[in-house]
Amino acid sequence: MSKVLIAFDSRTGHTEKMANYLAEGVRLAGGQAVVKKIAELKSEDDLQGFDAYAFGSPTYHRDMIGTMKTWLFMVQRAGLAGKPAGAFGSYTHSGDAPGLVADTMEYVFKMTMTSLGSLNMLEDQIDTPDGIKACQDYGKNLVQEAGG
Ligand SMILES: Cc1cc2nc3c(=O)[nH]c(=O)nc-3n(C[C@H](O)[C@H](O)[C@H](O)COP(=O)(O)O)c2cc1C
Repeated sequence: MSKVLIAFDSRTGHTEKMANYLAEGVRLAGGQAVVKKIAELKSEDDLQGFDAYAFGSPTYHRDMIGTMKTWLFMVQRAGLAGKPAGAFGSYTHSGDAPGLVADTMEYVFKMTMTSLGSLNMLEDQIDTPDGIKACQDYGKNLVQEAGG
């Protein structure tokens, strides 16, 4: 059974909702989901033992949330090369963050990005049936790409 770490930050709860829907998808696909705010993952040791990773950041000021930038410097030491990876986040108009996080996962950490690309979702869409399904499908896909 694949174990997926879903690590995120969220100021107003939208990206957190996405994280929880992703986790539902992981579980529906038979995987084990661990959902954590990045502040709970304090050292590279906290990132060990997972088969796939999804990192979530909302977009603020056309960028990832500031806490995520600092956190990713720590994650660099975790040695995640080759691991299946996804990135997600909520936005209202430009939605830059998931793509930026995905770039770091792919080009700096050398992780294997999911074939679905990053999941960028308008905040008003998250709690709709389509939004929930897209998040769940993203979680399911990570389990499949991690080997089931
Ligand atoms: C000060 C501020 C700046 C923002 N900048 C952007 C932005 O540049 N692009 C964008 O798409 N959304 C922007 N947003 C909207 C947030 O991305 C959106 O509200 C998102 O759902 C917040 O996610 P969270 O609830 O997980 O924190 C901004 C919101 C605030 C309050």
